[in-house]
Amino acid sequence: MPHSDTWIVLHGHASTLILEVVPGEAPLWCYWGARLPDGVTPAAVLRSTRPTPSFSPDFDQPFSLVPGLGQGWFGEPGLRAHRQGRDWTFQATDCAVEQSGQQVAVTLTDVAAKIAVTARLSLDPHSDVLTVSTTLTNQGHAPLDVQWLAAAVLPLPDHARTVRSFSGRHNTEFVAVEDQLTRSQWRRENRRGLTSHDCVPGAVVLADGCAYGAQLAWSGNHCQFIDWVDDGRWQWQLGEALMPGEISLAPGECLTSPEVLATCAADANGVAQNFHAAIRARMDWPGAAMRPRPVHLNTWEGFYFDHDEAALKDLADAAARAGIERFVLDDGWFHRRNDDTSSLGDWWPDDVKYPRGLGPLADYVTSLGMEFGLWVEPEMINPNSELYRAHPDWALQVAGRPLITARNQLVLDMGRDEVRDYLYERLAGLLNELPIGYLKWDHNRDLTAAGERPSFRRQVLGAYGLLARLRRDFPAVEIEACAGGGGRIDAGIARYTHRFWTSDNIDAVSRVAIQRGYLQFFPPELMGSHVGAAPAHATGRIQTMRFRNHVALPGHFGVELDLRKLGEHDLERLGEGIARYKALRDRLHRGQVWQGAGADGLLWQAHGTAEALVLMITRIDPQTQRHAPGLRLPMLDATRRYRIGETEYAGAWLVQHGLALPPLRGEDGLVLEVTAL
Ligand code: DGJ
Repeated sequence: MPHSDTWIVLHGHASTLILEVVPGEAPLWCYWGARLPDGVTPAAVLRSTRPTPSFSPDFDQPFSLVPGLGQGWFGEPGLRAHRQGRDWTFQATDCAVEQSGQQVAVTLTDVAAKIAVTARLSLDPHSDVLTVSTTLTNQGHAPLDVQWLAAAVLPLPDHARTVRSFSGRHNTEFVAVEDQLTRSQWRRENRRGLTSHDCVPGAVVLADGCAYGAQLAWSGNHCQFIDWVDDGRWQWQLGEALMPGEISLAPGECLTSPEVLATCAADANGVAQNFHAAIRARMDWPGAAMRPRPVHLNTWEGFYFDHDEAALKDLADAAARAGIERFVLDDGWFHRRNDDTSSLGDWWPDDVKYPRGLGPLADYVTSLGMEFGLWVEPEMINPNSELYRAHPDWALQVAGRPLITARNQLVLDMGRDEVRDYLYERLAGLLNELPIGYLKWDHNRDLTAAGERPSFRRQVLGAYGLLARLRRDFPAVEIEACAGGGGRIDAGIARYTHRFWTSDNIDAVSRVAIQRGYLQFFPPELMGSHVGAAPAHATGRIQTMRFRNHVALPGHFGVELDLRKLGEHDLERLGEGIARYKALRDRLHRGQVWQGAGADGLLWQAHGTAEALVLMITRIDPQTQRHAPGLRLPMLDATRRYRIGETEYAGAWLVQHGLALPPLRGEDGLVLEVTAL
C-alpha cells in the first residue's frame, strides 16, 4: 500500500513513533515516546520551517531515519561506504514509503552515490517493541566498500539523562555501568567476533519519566553509540561492527543488517517486560510452544573430563531420585578428550571411556524417565585433533601470522560449505544414533584475525546456517547457547536456541547481579540457573543449599554438582528446591518480571501477572538496621486487595508503605506468593 500522508505514524500499546515524510528525502524523526492519542501529529512540519542558525548551510538537514554524509548533516551518518574513495557522500534523492498496518518500508535512493537503502520498521502493538533493520543495495557498476551500516537509527528525547549498559568478563557477566549522557559521544564496540562477555549489544536509556531500550539481534561484532544532535535530542545507532575490507558489495549486491529490537516504556522494568514479550514471540520451540522447563543435571562441574560410564549411571540414578528431568553430558565424552588440550572436531565417542559408544548411557538415562542431552562445541578445532591433522586449512588463519590459540583451540572457518557439511554430518549422525533431546552448543574463545579477508560476518551466518539446518532436520531437539558461560547471549541466536548458559560462575552471590542484568534483556525461562557445589568452583565461596536454591529458582533451574557426594541434609534441601521450582515454574516463566531494591541492600524480583505473583526477596549482606522498613511493591494495584501467606493486605498499603518482612540474615532469601483477591 503506497503511503500518502505527511506523517508515518505507528502506535503501540503504550508508545508511538512519528516520522515526517518529505518527497525526495529521508523521513525526519519527529517523535518516539509514550503513546499519543490517535490522530495526534506534530503541530507543524519540520522541513523548511525552523530558522537557519548562523554559519549553517542554507539547506537545512534535520535528524532523519538514515542520516547522510557530506551533504550538510554533520552528526554521525547512518552509512559509510565508498567505491575506491569515490561515491562516499550519501544523501537520498528519492524516497518511497510503503506502509502496511504496523510495518513500514522506506526506500531511499541516491542517484549520485548509486545506492539504495531500505529501512524496515515494524511496531508490535502488543509488546511495544519496534523491530528495525536496514538493507543497502549497490546500484553502481563497481564494488561498494561498506564501513558502517546502521541497523537502526533511533531518536532519544532531549530529556534522556543516563545510559545503563552492561560490561563484564568470563565468570562476571552483565556488570551494569551507568554513564551520564553529555554532548560527548557515548560508544561501545565489540571486536571479539562473538557477542562477548564484556559488551552486551544493547542498553537502556533513562529519561525523565520514561526509559528506552534497544538491543541488536546479532552474535558477532557490534557497535552502538549515542550522539548528541544539535537540536537537543540524541541519536542512538546500533549495528554490526565491520572490519576493514570485510564487506565489498558487487554491483547489484545487497547487505542486510541484523535486526534491532527497540522499545520505550515507563521505566527499565517496562523495557525488560517488552523485550521479554518480543523475544518470546520470536522463539521457535519444538512443537510450537514452550513446555515447562525441565530440571537439568549438568555433569561439568561434578565430573569435568573424568567420564566413567558406571559412575555416570550412578549419577543418573541419583538424579532421577532427586526429581531431575534432563541429564546433560558435558565436555569430555568424545575421542581422546581427556583435558582441554585436544580433540575438538573429533565428534565421535571416546572408545576408551565409552567402549560401546554413548548408547548404553543415553539409553540408561532415558530408561529412568529423563531426557538425554549432549555437549558439543562445533565451531572449534584443536591443533591436536584428527580433524586438524586431516584439514589444517579449515582453521581460520592469516598467512604470515601466527595461529593464536585460546584454551588451546582454533576456530573453524564456518563460511566454508565443506566445514559446515562435515559438522552437520557428525552432529546429525549423533542425533540419529542416540536418543538425544538436547544439545548444549558451546563456543569457548574469542575470534582473532578471522580469515585472510576478515570474515566475522560469514562466521556468524555460517553458525546460524548450521543451527538452522539442524533445527529443520531435528525439530524436536532443543539447543542451549553457551560461550564460556554468557559469551553468546543475544536475540539473534535465540532464534535457533532455547536456553542460555548465563555464566560459568555458579556462586549464588555472584549470580544475583549476573541474573538481574540478564533479565533486563531476556526472559527468565531461557536463563540457565544452576545449583552448584559448595565451595563454588569459580570463587571458592560457600553458600547454604537454601540460598543456592533460592538464587537458581527464577530461571531455568538445574543442578551442576556430583549428587552422589551430597550429604543427607543438603540432598533433602535440594529436593525441596526442585519441588518448589516445579510447583512455581509456570508462574515464574510465563508472566512478566519486575525487579527492584528495598532499603538497606534488599533486592527483590517478582514474576507473574497482576493477579498472581511469585515474589523473591534476596539479601546478600547482613542487615545494617536493627529493624527493616517495609518493602514497597510498586507493581501492585493500589485499588485491589492481596493475600500474602495467611494475611490480607490493601494494595495501597503495600504500594505506599510496604510489606513488613521477617529478619533476614546475609545470603538469605524469601519466596512469597502474592495473590490478588
Ligand atoms: C564452558 C562452559 O561454559 C561450561 O559450562 C562447560 O561446558 C565447559 N565449557 C566445557 O568445556
